Parts: sequence; C-alpha cells; structure tokens
Amino acid sequence: MRTATLIAAAMILSVSAQAKLPFVKQAKELGFTEITSCKSCHVDAMPKKGASTANERGKFLLKMKADKKAAEVDLNWLKEYKGK
Ligand code: HEC
Repeated sequence: MRTATLIAAAMILSVSAQAKLPFVKQAKELGFTEITSCKSCHVDAMPKKGASTANERGKFLLKMKADKKAAEVDLNWLKEYKGK
C-alpha cells in the first residue's frame, strides 16, 4: 500500500516536471525549429526556479497564459508569435 502510494506520487511528480521543463524538446516536437535552447524564451542561459527572466518569446507565452487564464503554457500558442 505504502509503496504503491510512493510510486504513484513519483509518477505524478515526474509527469508534471516533464510537462514544465523540457520546453525545448516539446517545441522541437511541435516543429518550432527556431527554439534551440533555454535562451529562446529566457534571458538566462540556465534559468532557475524563481530566478528567471523571460525574453520576448517568453513574455509572449506568459501574456497568452494570462489572457487565456490558462493553467499551463501551451507551446502551440507560438504559432501566433510574430517575433523572431
Ligand atoms: C519555448 C519557450 C521556453 C523554452 C525554450 C524554455 N522555457 Fe523555461 N519557461 C518558459 C515559460 C513561458 C515559463 C513560465 C511558465 C509559467 O509561468 O507557466 C518558463 C519557466 C521556467 C522556469 C520557472 C521560472 C520561475 O521563475 O519559477 C524555469 C526554472 C525554467 N523555465 C527553466 C528552463 C530551462 C532550464 C530551459 C532550457 C533547458 C527552459 N526553461 C527553456 C518558456 C520556455
């Protein structure tokens, strides 16, 4: 019982960490070839939790998230991004 709970918790954690972090990989899978590194959306080369500044593309995604009142950023919104 206990082990099963732990495994379930670990699975949930790893899924949400994956949905959050590898934006680079997600972007490539969606065909956004211009996204090559963390710096495609962040000013920092290696952004950390609570210490990250979004660049123009990152700000666009955050604005979309706020406008849509979405729970998570959806990289498909980048289809509407007109910057470079
Ligand atoms: C396609 C754009 C994009 C790429 C590429 C990207 N990020 Fe992000 N990242 C975001 C956005 C947008 C947020 C804000 C998410 C939110 O608030 O919902 C974010 C948030 C974060 C946060 C949380 C920041 C905080 O203040 O708590 C970390 C840490 C982070 N990213 C790390 C990375 C790392 C490391 C990479 C490279 C391996 C990376 N990101 C690549 C768009 C991106």
